[in-house]
Amino acid sequence: KLTERETILTLIDEAMAFYRERLLSGREGQQAMGYLLKRGMTRKTIDDYRLGFAPDGWDHLTRYLHSRKRSPVMAAQAGLIVPRKKGEGYYDRFRNRIVFPIFNAQNQPIGFGGRVMDDALPKYLNSPETPVYNKSRSLYGLNAARPKCRETGTVYVVEGYFDLLSMHQFGIANTVATLGTSLTADHVRILRGFVGEGGKAVLVYDSDQAGIKAAQRSVAVFQKGDLEARILVLPEGHDPDSFLMEQGPDDFMKAANSAMAMFSFMAESAVDRYGLSVEGKVRIVNDLRPAIAAIGDPVARSLRIKHLAERIGVEESIVLDKIRRWKPAPAR
Ligand code: UTP
Ligand code: MN
Ligand code: MN
Ligand code: MN
Ligand code: MN
Repeated sequence: KLTERETILTLIDEAMAFYRERLLSGREGQQAMGYLLKRGMTRKTIDDYRLGFAPDGWDHLTRYLHSRKRSPVMAAQAGLIVPRKKGEGYYDRFRNRIVFPIFNAQNQPIGFGGRVMDDALPKYLNSPETPVYNKSRSLYGLNAARPKCRETGTVYVVEGYFDLLSMHQFGIANTVATLGTSLTADHVRILRGFVGEGGKAVLVYDSDQAGIKAAQRSVAVFQKGDLEARILVLPEGHDPDSFLMEQGPDDFMKAANSAMAMFSFMAESAVDRYGLSVEGKVRIVNDLRPAIAAIGDPVARSLRIKHLAERIGVEESIVLDKIRRWKPAPAR
C-alpha cells in the first residue's frame, strides 16, 4: 500500500509521461514542438528536461487518469486536476500549454509550470503547493545544476523557465531558477550547500522593474544566509534567455565577470532612487546603514564605507560617524 505522498508522486510521474507523449505525437504536439524550437530550444534540451504539452480541452488528463483507475481525489491533491465548482467531476489544470516539470532533489517530478504559446493570460500557470511541492524550498533545475555548482563554486540564480533552459543549453549549467517566487532562507541554505565554503551566488534577474525589486529584496536574504552574492544587471529589457539568444554566452560571461557586489548594487540603487542632492545623500547613508552594519568583516566594512563616501562625495569620517551612532532596531 502506497503512502499519500507516494501516490501523489506516482500520479505526477504519470502526468509527465502523458504530457510528453502529447508533445511527441499528433498535430497539436507538432505545433507545441514548433514553439519550443522557435524559442531556440534544442531537441536534447527538450528531452533532458522532459518538457511536454498539455493538450487543449477540459478533460484530456482527467479522462486518461480515470481510464487507468486513478483516484481523482488524489489527482486533485497532486494539483493535476481541479474539482468543478458546480456539479460533479474535475477538469485539467493545465490546458493548451507547454509544460515544464519541476523536480525534487531525488529527481522525482513534484509539479509543473505551464506556458501559453501566444499572448493569452496568465502567461504561466504553476502547480499549487501540495504535500510534495513546497515552493519556498523548490528550485527549478536543481539536479542538473548541482555538479557544476560544486565544480565552480558559483551558482547563477535566474527567474524563469526559459532563462534556466537557455543558461544550461549554452553550457552555463550551474544555474537554478526561482520561478517567480521570492528567494527564501531555505533556497539560500540549499545554494550554500551546492557551492560550498567560499562559494558565491550571482543573481541574474530580469532587467525590468520587477526584477530589480526582486534583486533588492534578495540582498537581505543572502546576508542572513551568509552566502556571498553578486548581481549581474543585464541591459534594460533583457532577461538571461533573451540576452543569451541575442548576444551569446561569451558576452554573457564577460558581463558576469563584472557582476556587482551586493553592496555596490544597493548603493547604486539608492543613488538612482534619491539622487545626489544634499537630502539625497543623507537618505542614501541612512538607507545603507543597516547593510553596512551587517558586514561582519571589519576590513570589508571599512572599504565599503570608503567607497560609499567617495561615490557620493561625502567626507569618509562623516559617513563613518553616522554609522557608528546608528544602533540596529531591537529584534522583535
Ligand atoms: P517573466 O514574465 O519574466 O517570463 O516571468 P519569462 O520567464 O521571461 O517567460 P518568457 O520568456 O516570456 O516565456 C519570470 C517567471 O515568473 C513566473 C514564471 O516562473 C516565469 O518563468 N511567472 C511569470 C508566473 O509564475 N506567472 C506568470 O504569469 C508570469
Ligand atoms: Mn520579468
Ligand atoms: Mn518579462
Ligand atoms: Mn523574463
Ligand atoms: Mn523571457
